[in-house]
Amino acid sequence: MNTLTAVYPGSFDPPTNGHMDIIERAASFNGRLIVGVLANPSKSPLFSVEERVELLKELTKDIPNVEISSFSGLLVDFCRKVGARIVIRGLRAVTDFEFEFQMALTNKTMSPELETLFMPTSTDYVWISSSVVKEVAMFDGEFEGMVPKLIKDVLDKKFNR
Ligand code: COA
Repeated sequence: MNTLTAVYPGSFDPPTNGHMDIIERAASFNGRLIVGVLANPSKSPLFSVEERVELLKELTKDIPNVEISSFSGLLVDFCRKVGARIVIRGLRAVTDFEFEFQMALTNKTMSPELETLFMPTSTDYVWISSSVVKEVAMFDGEFEGMVPKLIKDVLDKKFNR
């Protein structure tokens, strides 16, 4: 039997508890879950792609069916390359929906065999975004509950807190 392969793509700059929630729940289906870190030319990241990949590897080291990889260019091409037919996306609020719907339909048009599955983010994390986390870190605020301990430590280091 073929193992079902899914890709959870994103910028993960940095990974938050919201991302970890989606990764853990998506991995619980026991298929192969590839977290795809996008080298996104339209964003200026705080962490390099290599750093984000390393951080995600450390954060998921106890989940055997999760792999971390990076990609640039189109998500559909990355999915084809790794043999994935499913894209996982977390939805935080209705405001996410319009963009996510457009993205899912664009991907479906380019690659009809690809299905996008939306998972509602757990209520504890619906308000979190990587930008909010970076802003709080930059201005020395408290981000308890927003990110895993490892991410808190690297942010403290980046901002000399
Ligand atoms: N919990 C908390 N935060 C979450 C979250 C969750 N479950 N899901 C998303 N977010 C936040 C992220 O932290 C991020 O915050 P930020 O904007 O402050 O950095 C924001 O939501 C969206 O980020 P992310 O999920 O990482 O998506 P993205 O918009 O950076 O990238 C891709 C989305 C990678 C799927 C998309 O850009 C892509 O596929 N690009 C490749 C090019 C392509 O194929 N284009 C054609 C299709 S349109």
